[in-house]
Amino acid sequence: MSDPTTPIPCTLIRGDGIGPEIVDATLQVLDALNAPFAWQEHPAGLEAIKTCGDPLPQETLEAMRTTGLALKAPLTTPVGGGFRSVNVRLREELKLFANVRPGLSMLPDWKFQDVDIVLIRENTGGFYVGVEHFIPVGDDPRAVAEASGFMTREGCRRLARFAFEYTLAANRRKITVVHKANILKMLTGLFLEAVQEVGREYEGRVVLEDRIVDACAMQLVLNPSQFDVMLTPNMFGDILSDEIAGIIGGLGLAPGGNIGERAAMFEAVHGSAPDIAGQGKANPTAIMLAAAMMMEHCSLHAMAKRLRAAIHLTLQDKRTRTGDLGGPLNTAGFAKAVVANLA
Ligand code: NAI
Repeated sequence: MSDPTTPIPCTLIRGDGIGPEIVDATLQVLDALNAPFAWQEHPAGLEAIKTCGDPLPQETLEAMRTTGLALKAPLTTPVGGGFRSVNVRLREELKLFANVRPGLSMLPDWKFQDVDIVLIRENTGGFYVGVEHFIPVGDDPRAVAEASGFMTREGCRRLARFAFEYTLAANRRKITVVHKANILKMLTGLFLEAVQEVGREYEGRVVLEDRIVDACAMQLVLNPSQFDVMLTPNMFGDILSDEIAGIIGGLGLAPGGNIGERAAMFEAVHGSAPDIAGQGKANPTAIMLAAAMMMEHCSLHAMAKRLRAAIHLTLQDKRTRTGDLGGPLNTAGFAKAVVANLA
């Protein structure tokens, strides 16, 4: 347990779209908790292009390397062309090899109950390495598209070890490793093989089962409470964690932590939601829960527990929810309600 008064330097990225709104709401709650984070704010994303001509300025990256800790709001990535995802670059540059995405039932009136899944996603490899190109044919310069995915046995083993240790530390019992080793026999076959190798060291302590990704997606919507910890390659985890977010009530409720050996970055699973940006109606729950994960990462367990309890209490009552969950509150109103519910 850390001393809750010792300042902890932490990089803060307000992000794009709804980012600044949900960050403001979160800071309000963290202030009420006297959270000891000493914020160092740095630009990234569209804002950084305007001010520095680069969506990921070197100075921002260096600041994150120095603090080793960041709370980051969503960053916009252009579709089809334009600059490479800053989120993906940050995960690569800071070697944040594990993406931890919990999905917990919090709404008593939602269609699924008793969901408590932690999805752990391989965060720096697979198809997201950005090695792709077009092959011209005749007068069509984009006639064929080719992409490569990468997986290393060492990287998979390190992630697997992280997942097994996480499972034990969290008093969980089962890991479901997700793959498509019937088709992507090498890329996801190596992932499966490495996880099974490491899994043998944990026999008797953690149950390891495997699922093919498509069947897994179907079983998630049929019976989500059968899953405990899920361990997935990069792209499958990206997709399945949004599915899990939907299963617990929506993207507004799903936080994530990107963990490496020297740094950790906490964020919401959702994106910058340009369709509702600037309207003050975004749900800040996901990034507030990411802040609770960050507290736990910094051993501020009592403070994280208080924050989680206040968020859960606020979500129990339909009158203190944001619009995406059918409630009447805006972003600032929700923050106020969480502060009022802090024990
Ligand atoms: P999105 O997650 O931003 O939005 C999908 C839908 O969910 C939208 O209708 C949006 O209004 C709603 N939504 C998302 N978060 C919400 C919240 N907190 N409260 C209420 N409603 C919420 O996904 P989309 O539209 O595909 O992506 C927008 C941008 O975000 C893209 O540029 C994408 O690349 C980027 N993105 C960034 C991520 C990150 O920074 N980690 C993660 C995912 C996407």
